[in-house]
Amino acid sequence: MHILGVETSCDETSVAVIDDNNRILSNIIHTQEVHSRFGGVVPEVASRAHVKKIVPTYQAALAEAEMTLDDIGLIAATMGPGLVGPLLVGLTFAKGLAFARDIPFVAVNHMEGHLAANILEHPDLSEHHLTLIVSGGHTMLVEVEKFGHYRMIGRTKDDAAGEAFDKVAKLLGLGYPGGAELDRKAESGDPNYCKFPRPLIKEPGFQFSFSGLKTAVAIHVGKLDEQSRSQHIADIAASFQEAAVDVLSEKTIKAAQDKQITDITLSGGVAANRRLRSVLGERCDRAGLRLFYPSPALCTDNAAMIAAAGYYRFREDGPSELITNAVPYLKLEQA
Ligand SMILES: Nc1ncnc2c1ncn2[C@@H]1O[C@H](COP(=O)(O)OP(=O)(O)OP(=O)(O)O)[C@@H](O)[C@H]1O
Ligand SMILES: [Mg+2]
Repeated sequence: MHILGVETSCDETSVAVIDDNNRILSNIIHTQEVHSRFGGVVPEVASRAHVKKIVPTYQAALAEAEMTLDDIGLIAATMGPGLVGPLLVGLTFAKGLAFARDIPFVAVNHMEGHLAANILEHPDLSEHHLTLIVSGGHTMLVEVEKFGHYRMIGRTKDDAAGEAFDKVAKLLGLGYPGGAELDRKAESGDPNYCKFPRPLIKEPGFQFSFSGLKTAVAIHVGKLDEQSRSQHIADIAASFQEAAVDVLSEKTIKAAQDKQITDITLSGGVAANRRLRSVLGERCDRAGLRLFYPSPALCTDNAAMIAAAGYYRFREDGPSELITNAVPYLKLEQA
């Protein structure tokens, strides 16, 4: 069977075709550049940009897969969480296609999609694993008993990890969204230049907090004159990244040991962070745990992961009703 995935929850218009062996035949991702001038995603602008791009993105996905809609056996689309206008564009488009051609439709939880990116690429990953979801809007440690069965272990009390990366990047003049740029910049910086706080690292439990760390960077930057600031951008980026990665890695290892889980995955946009992959990877090796993460293009929003999650959902629960609506604050536990 071939599955068509549609993702429009934020500022990526993406359509993909995968098969039921988790082979990606196409995964077209159009990132809306228009928001960089506002320093954040403007929901109404995003909705309009999705309307413009959804049809050409869909056509490109079918063309690259060398298929027509006749070859598609299931259509999956993100129903939430995300921005309601953008969600409605992809969801309505997908439901329209399904209705017109009598193809089964399945609604997908975007966070379950991020999680499915690992399953898509790593066939030897245990069904029972721990995932650290680190994205633009979420930071969560989740025990996956098996696909569709989740136990929340901890989450952030305030900012998401990606949000913290983006805010610090903005502070350092690295543009928006700046997580990936901060990662690149940090490579030439000294991670020991400044010892920023590691919020909640020694606290029991698995809660995260990033707003204090972001404020500590802002205070440090505020004290520097123009010359030292521009001289130390890479050092500040590396020191912030080190603190964030240290907390994320420490809590993840602790949670895996506490729950006696040996397989760990990273999901979401920040899973593309090279320092997080390497620090957590080393600590997992030392602790006898296995770490998996998606290839960079499957970490940030894309429709292949939505198609993969949709296919799992379909096998477990059958199709969704065509009256399914967008749910902006959909929780992973509701998946
Ligand atoms: N290499 C990287 N290092 C750090 N952060 C990164 C990197 N690449 C991407 N990011 C961050 O990942 C985030 C985007 O991830 P993603 O697309 O999963 O988030 P989202 O879809 O906006 O949020 P959510 O999935 O929670 O709804 C942004 O905050 C971005 O800066
Ligand atoms: Mg996302």
